Amino acid sequence: MAGEVWIIGASKGLGLAMAELFRRQGRSVVGFARRPPADRAAFAEFVGLDAADPDAFDATLHRLFAERPAPELIVYCAACVYQGPIVDQPERALRAEVEANYLGFVRLCQAVAAHKPAEARVRLVATGSTLGYVGCPSLDNYSACKAALISFARSARRELAAHGIAIQILSPPHMDNGGADLIGPRQFTLAWSAERFVRAAEGGVREHLLGASNRLVLVLARIAPGFTQRIMDGIGADALKRGARRMPA
Ligand SMILES: NC(=O)c1ccc[n+]([C@@H]2O[C@H](COP(=O)([O-])OP(=O)(O)OC[C@H]3O[C@@H](n4cnc5c(N)ncnc54)[C@H](OP(=O)(O)O)[C@@H]3O)[C@@H](O)[C@H]2O)c1
Repeated sequence: MAGEVWIIGASKGLGLAMAELFRRQGRSVVGFARRPPADRAAFAEFVGLDAADPDAFDATLHRLFAERPAPELIVYCAACVYQGPIVDQPERALRAEVEANYLGFVRLCQAVAAHKPAEARVRLVATGSTLGYVGCPSLDNYSACKAALISFARSARRELAAHGIAIQILSPPHMDNGGADLIGPRQFTLAWSAERFVRAAEGGVREHLLGASNRLVLVLARIAPGFTQRIMDGIGADALKRGARRMPA
């Protein structure tokens, strides 16, 4: 049977949908988040974890590697979102995004390298976003965190490969689970996104953005970056005009 899957950010949204999918495929799944979901049926174990707490993060991964067989795949899905004017974003919300959306994945890389058995091969998935490739007003800091995540994941690959760790970068499209409020990009269902994401993760795909319309944005960003930014500026300006707001949970 294929190895265990650990999902960080598994209490709701894409992480939970993927946990349920893996479970239906007969895989053992360990979930992580600050708060557990009401229904833990998809999980062999659900572990309380705050990606913003470096010591607790390290200690938790240390304990799990000592208690369980090394997982084959760890999906880092944790994220929080502030949406609204950047001039109003509180310091607390700026930091929460940097911690959950970027530094948590860096901490995961460090903890896995430090605590996994030397012979184990582990694949890590960094969950990106279209906004990590082309930033969007009203989600400025979120976009920048995802850009940092993608840049880090690309550059850390070489060093971590020597530790038996492979890094994949997979980005879901805009989904229908009440995340950022943007009018423009087509919304995809959680079920559609979870199925494609799991398939790409299992296939060892190095870097992939789900959704043909989102990939078109990436192609445009390469050949006409100014034009593509203007499209995102329009989408973000509309959100700001409508007063779209969301604070990190
Ligand atoms: N939704 C979209 O349209 C969309 C589009 C592109 C990319 N993405 C990316 O796809 C991933 C999943 O998105 P989603 O919409 O499914 O997210 P979501 O429903 O908001 O769920 C986020 C998960 O992360 C956990 N989390 C947040 N802060 C954490 C922290 N400090 N430590 C540990 N866990 C934390 C949450 O649980 P707790 O709050 O209990 O900790 C929850 O389980 C994210 O990386 C997101 O950036 C989403």
